[in-house]
Amino acid sequence: MLAARVRPVLRVSPGSAVQCARRALSDIPTPKVHPAPGPPVNVLIVGAGNINFGSDEGPWNHSQRLEAKLGARLRVVGLVDPAAERAAGVLASKAATLAAPAYADTVVYPSVQAATAALASSPPDLVVLGSPPAFRGTTDKSKGFNAEEQLTDAFPAAALFVEKPVATGPVEEAQKVADLLESRKGSLVSVGYMLRYSAAVQKMKEIIRENNLTVMMTSARYVMAYEHSSKPAWWNKSIDCGPIVEQATHFVDLSRYFGGEVDLSSILAHSIEWYEKPGQLSKMAVDESQIPEDDRIPRFTSATWKYESGAIGHLEHGVALQGTEFSTELAVCEWAQCRGVCLCLADSHPQSPTGTSSS
Ligand SMILES: NC(=O)c1ccc[n+]([C@@H]2O[C@H](COP(=O)([O-])OP(=O)(O)OC[C@H]3O[C@@H](n4cnc5c(N)ncnc54)[C@H](O)[C@@H]3O)[C@@H](O)[C@H]2O)c1
Repeated sequence: MLAARVRPVLRVSPGSAVQCARRALSDIPTPKVHPAPGPPVNVLIVGAGNINFGSDEGPWNHSQRLEAKLGARLRVVGLVDPAAERAAGVLASKAATLAAPAYADTVVYPSVQAATAALASSPPDLVVLGSPPAFRGTTDKSKGFNAEEQLTDAFPAAALFVEKPVATGPVEEAQKVADLLESRKGSLVSVGYMLRYSAAVQKMKEIIRENNLTVMMTSARYVMAYEHSSKPAWWNKSIDCGPIVEQATHFVDLSRYFGGEVDLSSILAHSIEWYEKPGQLSKMAVDESQIPEDDRIPRFTSATWKYESGAIGHLEHGVALQGTEFSTELAVCEWAQCRGVCLCLADSHPQSPTGTSSS
Protein backbone atom coordinates (compact mmCIF):
# COMPACT_ATOMS: atom_id res chain seq x y z
CA MET A 1 0.00 0.00 0.00
CA LEU A 2 2.81 2.41 0.80
CA ALA A 3 4.95 1.10 -2.01
CA ALA A 4 7.79 3.50 -2.81
CA ARG A 5 7.85 5.05 -6.26
CA VAL A 6 10.68 2.87 -7.50
CA ARG A 7 11.33 2.24 -11.16
CA PRO A 8 14.01 -0.41 -11.20
CA VAL A 9 15.33 -2.09 -14.32
CA LEU A 10 14.80 -5.80 -14.82
CA ARG A 11 17.18 -7.75 -17.09
CA VAL A 12 16.79 -11.40 -18.03
CA SER A 13 19.66 -13.46 -19.47
CA PRO A 14 20.17 -16.07 -21.18
CA GLY A 15 18.29 -19.34 -21.69
CA SER A 16 15.38 -20.57 -23.70
CA ALA A 17 12.90 -19.18 -21.18
CA VAL A 18 14.30 -15.76 -21.97
CA GLN A 19 12.19 -15.03 -25.02
CA CYS A 20 8.93 -15.49 -23.19
CA ALA A 21 10.32 -13.56 -20.24
CA ARG A 22 11.46 -10.66 -22.44
CA ARG A 23 8.05 -10.38 -24.01
CA ALA A 24 6.53 -10.44 -20.57
CA LEU A 25 8.65 -7.49 -19.44
CA SER A 26 6.54 -5.12 -21.51
CA ASP A 27 3.68 -6.06 -19.17
CA ILE A 28 5.33 -4.39 -16.16
CA PRO A 29 2.79 -1.73 -15.26
CA THR A 30 3.75 1.86 -14.59
CA PRO A 31 2.40 2.64 -11.11
CA LYS A 32 -0.68 4.82 -11.36
CA VAL A 33 -2.60 6.12 -8.42
CA HIS A 34 -6.26 7.07 -8.57
CA PRO A 35 -7.87 7.62 -5.18
CA ALA A 36 -10.98 5.46 -5.02
CA PRO A 37 -14.13 6.93 -3.52
CA GLY A 38 -15.09 5.70 -0.08
CA PRO A 39 -15.48 6.68 3.57
CA PRO A 40 -12.87 8.77 5.39
CA VAL A 41 -9.77 6.91 6.52
CA ASN A 42 -8.43 8.04 9.89
CA VAL A 43 -4.66 7.74 10.18
CA LEU A 44 -2.30 8.10 13.12
CA ILE A 45 1.27 8.87 12.06
CA VAL A 46 4.11 8.14 14.48
CA GLY A 47 7.26 10.12 13.69
CA ALA A 48 7.48 13.50 11.95
CA GLY A 49 10.75 12.59 10.26
CA ASN A 50 12.08 11.87 6.80
CA ILE A 51 10.34 8.58 6.17
CA ASN A 52 6.87 9.97 6.85
CA PHE A 53 7.27 13.51 5.51
CA GLY A 54 10.10 13.35 2.97
CA SER A 55 13.56 14.91 2.76
CA ASP A 56 16.41 15.32 0.32
CA GLU A 57 17.59 11.90 1.54
CA GLY A 58 15.47 9.91 -0.86
CA PRO A 59 12.14 9.35 -2.57
CA TRP A 60 10.33 8.00 0.49
CA ASN A 61 7.50 10.05 1.92
CA HIS A 62 4.62 8.05 3.37
CA SER A 63 2.33 11.01 3.99
CA GLN A 64 2.55 12.04 0.35
CA ARG A 65 1.76 8.52 -0.80
CA LEU A 66 -1.22 8.34 1.55
CA GLU A 67 -2.44 11.62 0.10
CA ALA A 68 -2.10 10.25 -3.42
CA LYS A 69 -3.82 6.96 -2.55
CA LEU A 70 -6.63 8.27 -0.43
CA GLY A 71 -7.19 11.78 -1.77
CA ALA A 72 -10.03 13.54 0.05
CA ARG A 73 -10.65 10.45 2.21
CA LEU A 74 -7.44 10.97 4.20
CA ARG A 75 -7.84 12.31 7.74
CA VAL A 76 -4.63 12.43 9.74
CA VAL A 77 -6.07 12.43 13.24
CA GLY A 78 -2.78 12.43 15.10
CA LEU A 79 0.95 12.90 14.70
CA VAL A 80 3.20 11.52 17.44
CA ASP A 81 6.60 13.10 17.95
CA PRO A 82 8.37 14.26 21.12
CA ALA A 83 9.99 16.94 18.95
CA ALA A 84 6.92 19.18 18.95
CA GLU A 85 8.57 21.83 16.79
CA ARG A 86 9.43 19.36 14.07
CA ALA A 87 5.86 18.05 14.12
CA ALA A 88 4.46 21.58 13.95
CA GLY A 89 6.84 22.32 11.09
CA VAL A 90 5.71 19.44 8.90
CA LEU A 91 2.06 20.26 9.60
CA ALA A 92 2.68 23.89 8.65
CA SER A 93 4.18 22.70 5.36
CA LYS A 94 1.12 20.55 4.72
CA ALA A 95 -1.17 23.51 5.34
CA ALA A 96 0.31 25.11 2.25
CA THR A 97 -0.47 22.14 -0.02
CA LEU A 98 -3.55 20.77 -1.75
CA ALA A 99 -3.63 18.06 0.94
CA ALA A 100 -4.25 20.66 3.69
CA PRO A 101 -7.78 19.41 4.54
CA ALA A 102 -6.34 16.01 5.51
CA TYR A 103 -4.31 17.71 8.26
CA ALA A 104 -6.82 20.34 9.35
CA ASP A 105 -7.62 18.49 12.61
CA THR A 106 -4.31 16.75 13.25
CA VAL A 107 -3.35 16.76 16.93
CA VAL A 108 0.32 16.48 17.87
CA TYR A 109 1.05 14.02 20.68
CA PRO A 110 4.38 13.76 22.51
CA SER A 111 4.22 9.96 22.83
CA VAL A 112 2.39 6.87 21.64
CA GLN A 113 0.99 6.59 25.15
CA ALA A 114 -0.60 10.06 24.93
CA ALA A 115 -2.04 9.30 21.49
CA THR A 116 -3.53 5.94 22.48
CA ALA A 117 -5.15 7.52 25.55
CA ALA A 118 -6.62 10.42 23.59
CA LEU A 119 -7.87 8.30 20.68
CA ALA A 120 -9.23 5.39 22.72
CA SER A 121 -12.85 6.16 21.88
CA SER A 122 -12.22 6.91 18.20
CA PRO A 123 -9.45 4.56 17.07
CA PRO A 124 -7.69 5.25 13.77
CA ASP A 125 -8.13 2.92 10.80
CA LEU A 126 -4.40 2.91 10.12
CA VAL A 127 -1.28 3.56 12.17
CA VAL A 128 1.99 4.34 10.38
CA LEU A 129 4.83 3.63 12.81
CA GLY A 130 7.83 5.51 11.43
CA SER A 131 9.80 6.52 14.50
CA PRO A 132 13.44 5.35 14.77
CA PRO A 133 13.78 1.75 15.98
CA ALA A 134 15.56 2.82 19.17
CA PHE A 135 12.18 4.19 20.31
CA ARG A 136 10.09 1.12 19.43
CA GLY A 137 10.74 -2.53 18.60
CA THR A 138 10.70 -3.70 22.21
CA THR A 139 8.30 -5.23 24.71
CA ASP A 140 10.12 -3.51 27.57
CA LYS A 141 7.59 -1.12 29.09
CA SER A 142 10.05 0.76 31.32
CA LYS A 143 10.65 3.70 28.95
CA GLY A 144 7.32 3.59 27.15
CA PHE A 145 9.01 2.42 23.93
CA ASN A 146 6.84 -0.71 23.61
CA ALA A 147 4.96 1.09 20.83
CA GLU A 148 3.75 -2.02 18.98
CA GLU A 149 2.25 -3.42 22.19
CA GLN A 150 0.59 -0.13 23.15
CA LEU A 151 -0.86 0.31 19.65
CA THR A 152 -2.07 -3.29 19.53
CA ASP A 153 -3.77 -3.04 22.92
CA ALA A 154 -5.41 0.31 22.13
CA PHE A 155 -6.28 -0.20 18.46
CA PRO A 156 -6.54 -3.96 17.81
CA ALA A 157 -8.53 -3.48 14.60
CA ALA A 158 -6.37 -0.77 13.05
CA ALA A 159 -4.07 -1.71 10.19
CA LEU A 160 -0.45 -1.27 11.27
CA PHE A 161 2.45 -0.29 9.05
CA VAL A 162 5.82 -0.67 10.82
CA GLU A 163 8.99 0.79 9.37
CA LYS A 164 12.08 -1.30 9.02
CA PRO A 165 14.09 -2.35 10.90
CA VAL A 166 11.45 -3.85 13.16
CA ALA A 167 13.92 -3.68 16.05
CA THR A 168 17.54 -2.92 16.80
CA GLY A 169 17.69 -4.48 20.28
CA PRO A 170 18.62 -8.05 21.20
CA VAL A 171 17.38 -10.76 18.82
CA GLU A 172 15.08 -12.21 21.52
CA GLU A 173 13.36 -8.84 21.87
CA ALA A 174 12.98 -8.51 18.10
CA GLN A 175 11.44 -11.99 18.04
CA LYS A 176 8.95 -11.03 20.75
CA VAL A 177 7.88 -7.99 18.74
CA ALA A 178 7.63 -10.12 15.58
CA ASP A 179 5.46 -12.64 17.46
CA LEU A 180 3.24 -9.81 18.68
CA LEU A 181 2.84 -8.48 15.13
CA GLU A 182 2.11 -12.02 13.86
CA SER A 183 -0.55 -12.39 16.54
CA ARG A 184 -2.55 -9.44 15.15
CA LYS A 185 -4.71 -11.76 13.10
CA GLY A 186 -7.71 -9.45 12.80
CA SER A 187 -5.91 -6.61 11.06
CA LEU A 188 -3.38 -6.00 8.35
CA VAL A 189 0.27 -5.65 9.40
CA SER A 190 2.97 -4.64 6.97
CA VAL A 191 6.68 -3.84 7.36
CA GLY A 192 8.46 -1.20 5.26
CA TYR A 193 10.24 -3.52 2.86
CA MET A 194 8.77 -1.61 -0.05
CA LEU A 195 10.82 -3.25 -2.81
CA ARG A 196 8.74 -6.40 -2.46
CA TYR A 197 5.81 -4.48 -3.87
CA SER A 198 7.66 -3.05 -6.87
CA ALA A 199 6.28 -4.12 -10.21
CA ALA A 200 9.71 -5.37 -11.34
CA VAL A 201 10.10 -7.64 -8.30
CA GLN A 202 6.59 -8.97 -8.77
CA LYS A 203 7.42 -9.63 -12.45
CA MET A 204 10.53 -11.58 -11.39
CA LYS A 205 8.34 -13.67 -9.09
CA GLU A 206 5.88 -14.24 -11.92
CA ILE A 207 8.62 -15.33 -14.35
CA ILE A 208 9.96 -17.81 -11.77
CA ARG A 209 6.49 -19.15 -11.05
CA GLU A 210 5.29 -19.41 -14.65
CA ASN A 211 8.47 -21.07 -15.89
CA ASN A 212 8.63 -23.40 -12.91
CA LEU A 213 12.16 -22.20 -12.09
CA THR A 214 14.14 -23.25 -9.03
CA VAL A 215 16.33 -20.60 -7.40
CA MET A 216 20.00 -21.66 -7.33
CA MET A 217 21.66 -18.42 -6.24
CA THR A 218 20.90 -14.88 -5.18
CA SER A 219 23.52 -12.16 -5.32
CA ALA A 220 22.77 -8.70 -3.91
CA ARG A 221 25.00 -5.65 -4.20
CA TYR A 222 24.04 -2.36 -2.58
CA VAL A 223 26.59 0.44 -2.70
CA MET A 224 25.36 3.71 -1.25
CA ALA A 225 26.30 7.33 -1.89
CA TYR A 226 27.12 8.37 1.67
CA GLU A 227 27.88 12.06 1.18
CA HIS A 228 24.43 13.28 2.24
CA SER A 229 23.92 10.81 5.06
CA SER A 230 23.95 13.36 7.85
CA LYS A 231 22.26 11.66 10.81
CA PRO A 232 24.92 10.83 13.47
CA ALA A 233 22.83 7.84 14.65
CA TRP A 234 23.17 6.26 11.20
CA TRP A 235 26.97 6.21 11.60
CA ASN A 236 26.77 4.76 15.12
CA LYS A 237 26.34 1.00 15.48
CA SER A 238 25.14 1.29 19.06
CA ILE A 239 22.14 3.39 17.95
CA ASP A 240 21.06 2.37 14.43
CA CYS A 241 22.87 -0.99 14.46
CA GLY A 242 24.97 -0.27 11.37
CA PRO A 243 24.27 -0.28 7.64
CA ILE A 244 23.39 -3.95 7.26
CA VAL A 245 20.48 -3.72 9.71
CA GLU A 246 19.59 -0.17 8.72
CA GLN A 247 20.01 -0.29 4.94
CA ALA A 248 21.14 -3.58 3.39
CA THR A 249 18.15 -5.05 5.25
CA HIS A 250 16.12 -4.25 2.11
CA PHE A 251 18.29 -6.53 -0.01
CA VAL A 252 18.50 -9.18 2.72
CA ASP A 253 14.73 -9.16 2.71
CA LEU A 254 14.58 -9.48 -1.09
CA SER A 255 17.15 -12.28 -1.00
CA ARG A 256 14.92 -14.21 1.41
CA TYR A 257 11.87 -13.33 -0.68
CA PHE A 258 13.48 -15.22 -3.58
CA GLY A 259 15.70 -17.73 -1.82
CA GLY A 260 13.64 -18.66 1.23
CA GLU A 261 14.87 -19.19 4.78
CA VAL A 262 18.59 -19.08 5.46
CA ASP A 263 20.65 -21.65 7.35
CA LEU A 264 21.94 -19.13 9.89
CA SER A 265 24.85 -21.35 10.89
CA SER A 266 26.21 -21.09 7.33
CA ILE A 267 26.68 -17.31 7.25
CA LEU A 268 30.24 -16.06 6.70
CA ALA A 269 31.09 -12.37 6.51
CA HIS A 270 34.03 -10.02 6.09
CA SER A 271 34.08 -6.27 6.51
CA ILE A 272 36.37 -3.34 5.82
CA GLU A 273 36.43 -1.36 9.06
CA TRP A 274 36.78 2.41 9.49
CA TYR A 275 40.42 2.15 10.61
CA GLU A 276 41.63 0.12 7.63
CA LYS A 277 43.24 1.78 4.63
CA PRO A 278 40.46 0.96 2.14
CA GLY A 279 37.96 2.19 4.74
CA GLN A 280 38.95 5.86 4.63
CA LEU A 281 36.05 8.10 3.56
CA SER A 282 36.73 11.70 2.59
CA LYS A 283 33.22 13.15 2.33
CA MET A 284 31.44 12.18 5.53
CA ALA A 285 28.74 14.64 6.60
CA VAL A 286 29.20 13.81 10.29
CA ASP A 287 32.20 14.24 12.55
CA GLU A 288 33.12 10.62 13.18
CA SER A 289 35.57 11.54 15.92
CA GLN A 290 32.50 12.18 18.09
CA ILE A 291 31.48 8.52 17.76
CA PRO A 292 33.24 6.00 20.03
CA GLU A 293 35.66 3.91 17.96
CA ASP A 294 33.91 0.62 18.74
CA ASP A 295 30.62 2.07 17.49
CA ARG A 296 31.84 3.23 14.07
CA ILE A 297 30.32 1.44 11.10
CA PRO A 298 32.06 -0.83 8.57
CA ARG A 299 32.60 0.56 5.06
CA PHE A 300 32.10 -2.61 3.05
CA THR A 301 30.64 -5.92 4.07
CA SER A 302 30.54 -9.13 2.08
CA ALA A 303 28.54 -12.13 3.28
CA THR A 304 27.66 -15.54 1.92
CA TRP A 305 25.24 -18.20 3.11
CA LYS A 306 23.31 -21.37 2.24
CA TYR A 307 19.56 -21.29 2.05
CA GLU A 308 17.68 -24.13 3.67
CA SER A 309 16.74 -25.21 0.11
CA GLY A 310 20.45 -25.81 -0.64
CA ALA A 311 20.73 -22.69 -2.83
CA ILE A 312 23.42 -20.12 -2.02
CA GLY A 313 23.21 -16.40 -1.28
CA HIS A 314 25.62 -13.50 -1.38
CA LEU A 315 25.39 -9.91 -0.14
CA GLU A 316 27.74 -6.98 -0.61
CA HIS A 317 27.03 -3.67 1.04
CA GLY A 318 29.21 -0.61 0.67
CA VAL A 319 29.35 2.88 2.13
CA ALA A 320 31.56 4.05 -0.67
CA LEU A 321 30.15 6.36 -3.32
CA GLN A 322 30.23 10.13 -3.35
CA GLY A 323 27.66 12.28 -5.11
CA THR A 324 24.07 11.16 -5.17
CA GLU A 325 23.85 7.96 -7.18
CA PHE A 326 23.58 4.55 -5.57
CA SER A 327 24.68 1.39 -7.33
CA THR A 328 22.39 -1.55 -6.61
CA GLU A 329 21.76 -4.89 -8.22
CA LEU A 330 20.05 -8.11 -7.22
CA ALA A 331 20.69 -11.16 -9.40
CA VAL A 332 18.61 -14.29 -9.01
CA CYS A 333 19.76 -17.34 -10.99
CA GLU A 334 17.45 -20.28 -11.49
CA TRP A 335 17.18 -23.46 -13.42
CA ALA A 336 14.36 -25.44 -14.90
CA GLN A 337 14.68 -28.63 -16.87
CA CYS A 338 17.22 -28.04 -19.67
CA ARG A 339 17.66 -24.32 -19.15
CA GLY A 340 19.01 -21.67 -16.82
CA VAL A 341 17.91 -18.08 -16.33
CA CYS A 342 19.39 -15.12 -14.53
CA LEU A 343 17.07 -12.29 -13.53
CA CYS A 344 18.69 -9.04 -12.60
CA LEU A 345 17.07 -6.14 -10.75
CA ALA A 346 19.19 -3.03 -11.20
CA ASP A 347 18.94 0.55 -9.92
CA SER A 348 16.32 -0.21 -7.31
CA HIS A 349 17.03 3.07 -5.52
CA PRO A 350 16.40 6.04 -7.79
CA GLN A 351 17.47 9.49 -6.70
CA SER A 352 14.98 11.91 -5.27
CA PRO A 353 14.56 15.11 -7.29
CA THR A 354 16.68 17.01 -4.77
CA GLY A 355 19.22 14.56 -3.48
CA THR A 356 20.13 11.00 -2.74
CA SER A 357 18.39 7.91 -1.57
CA SER A 358 19.78 6.34 1.56
CA SER A 359 18.17 3.82 3.84
N1 LIG B 1 11.73 1.79 4.21
C1 LIG B 1 12.59 2.71 3.81
O1 LIG B 1 13.02 2.75 2.66
C2 LIG B 1 13.06 3.72 4.80
C3 LIG B 1 13.69 4.89 4.38
C4 LIG B 1 14.09 5.82 5.36
C5 LIG B 1 13.89 5.55 6.71
N2 LIG B 1 13.30 4.39 7.08
C6 LIG B 1 13.06 4.07 8.50
O2 LIG B 1 12.14 4.97 9.07
C7 LIG B 1 12.42 5.13 10.45
C8 LIG B 1 12.54 6.60 10.77
O3 LIG B 1 13.56 7.15 9.99
P1 LIG B 1 13.57 8.68 9.58
O4 LIG B 1 14.53 8.78 8.45
O5 LIG B 1 12.21 9.21 9.41
O6 LIG B 1 14.23 9.33 10.90
P2 LIG B 1 14.28 10.87 11.29
O7 LIG B 1 15.40 11.00 12.23
O8 LIG B 1 14.25 11.74 10.07
O9 LIG B 1 12.91 11.14 12.04
C9 LIG B 1 12.51 10.41 13.15
C10 LIG B 1 11.47 11.22 13.91
O10 LIG B 1 10.97 10.37 14.95
C11 LIG B 1 10.87 11.19 16.11
N3 LIG B 1 10.82 10.37 17.33
C12 LIG B 1 11.80 10.07 18.20
N4 LIG B 1 11.32 9.33 19.21
C13 LIG B 1 10.02 9.15 18.97
C14 LIG B 1 9.00 8.47 19.66
N5 LIG B 1 9.24 7.81 20.78
N6 LIG B 1 7.76 8.49 19.12
C15 LIG B 1 7.53 9.14 17.99
N7 LIG B 1 8.46 9.81 17.28
C16 LIG B 1 9.70 9.80 17.78
C17 LIG B 1 12.04 12.13 16.06
O11 LIG B 1 11.83 13.27 16.88
C18 LIG B 1 12.05 12.48 14.57
O12 LIG B 1 11.22 13.59 14.28
C19 LIG B 1 13.70 4.33 10.72
O13 LIG B 1 13.35 3.08 11.22
C20 LIG B 1 14.32 4.19 9.33
O14 LIG B 1 15.11 3.02 9.19
C21 LIG B 1 12.86 3.50 6.16
